[in-house]
Amino acid sequence: MTNSRISGFYNLSLDDRLAKVAASADFPTDGLTPFTTGGLTPEAADHMVENAVGMFSLPLGIGLNFQVNGRDVLVPMTLEEPSVVAGASFMAKLARAGGGFQATCSAPEMIGQMQLLDVDDVHATRLKVYEHKADLLAEADSIDPVLKKFGGGARDLEVRVIDDSPIGAFLVVHLIYDVRDAMGANAVNTACERLAPRIEAITGGRVHLRILSNLADRRIARARCVIPVKELAFGGGDPSGRPYTGERVRDGIIEAYAFAASDPYRAATHNKGIMNGVDAVVIATGNDWRAIEAGAHAYAARSGRYTSLSTWGKNRDGDLVGTLEMPMAVGIVGGATKVHSAAQAAVKLMGVKTASELAEIIVSVGLAQNMAALRALATEGIQRGHMSLHARQVAIAAGASADLVEKVAAQMVAEKVVRIDRAEEILKEMKS
Ligand code: MEV
Repeated sequence: MTNSRISGFYNLSLDDRLAKVAASADFPTDGLTPFTTGGLTPEAADHMVENAVGMFSLPLGIGLNFQVNGRDVLVPMTLEEPSVVAGASFMAKLARAGGGFQATCSAPEMIGQMQLLDVDDVHATRLKVYEHKADLLAEADSIDPVLKKFGGGARDLEVRVIDDSPIGAFLVVHLIYDVRDAMGANAVNTACERLAPRIEAITGGRVHLRILSNLADRRIARARCVIPVKELAFGGGDPSGRPYTGERVRDGIIEAYAFAASDPYRAATHNKGIMNGVDAVVIATGNDWRAIEAGAHAYAARSGRYTSLSTWGKNRDGDLVGTLEMPMAVGIVGGATKVHSAAQAAVKLMGVKTASELAEIIVSVGLAQNMAALRALATEGIQRGHMSLHARQVAIAAGASADLVEKVAAQMVAEKVVRIDRAEEILKEMKS
């Protein structure tokens, strides 16, 4: 049983943190070695992309305090941006006080699209395809025996008329395919390519594109959390001395959400904050973050107006309530997850046995990250938290040795001047 609450984690060395994570997850420490080596050999990289010349590293941090559906989980997060891991971990701690994250996932159904052109009458042809639905589904179902063995396969067929395209009306056949624990692109694309000749024979038309849709709106992950209002209060106050009471922070977060819900310019940034958390786990597990990004933003615009993926409000007790709902096409088998040992270690560390469980953790991290950003924005602003992390990076860039980084950074933050020239001056003063 994992314990995701680790006190003083921040103050440990990298090696000690790794040992602590392993101990807290009851996991062999050497099982986490790929986190220190990067997880990929040049030979594996060479098989993954063309013209490979090397590899490219990013930091891997651990999201702490997460409890998803009553289970503690230590969450590997890969990204280059400071504050994200700390923000998500802190919000997970607040959410924990309200029972953690409750998350669910729909069946792992992906949509494969076949663009059907050159038909006589789109409406009549549409019905013709439906007349053969059972046969077409049976054929699609037999294409991937491995997937079938694990309970996946063809689930449904839908035919849509697109009547306002630049080339006039045409049909789109959607094959709904349960891909179980895979991301599913390969299975769905194969099924569409195999089904296309049959659809052409039935309709007399021409199947042009045969490809998965990244608007995976049949594969939705959902998370909600309740933050007891008293947990939201924090010390000090604003520059005029007004305290940040729990009610004030809660209402500030709800107002910030209202901005994103009604203005696409703000919604894009609000959703970017969600994706800071989501992508970090998607990348750490070797999944396709471009697919997740495409699906998220298309889903956010599904009503015709781009809006927030999350909601924030309050319940009868005055506690803050957050929800997040978005497509989550992630897998734990196949693709990079299979060949990347750090991705495999990440999946194992979280103890997930299915792609749906992974999706539930990811959507919870997205919600935590969203709250971290809104809380900062609705109170002291985003720069204050960023400043000390940024100051450390500036101190390192100015040449501060490990023992001086914190001191130089702290002085710059106190002076509110975070610049490389000032860091160099402070370093000189310290050394003399
Ligand atoms: C920065 O990476 C993310 C934020 O801009 C998100 C937001 O504004 O909600 C802080």
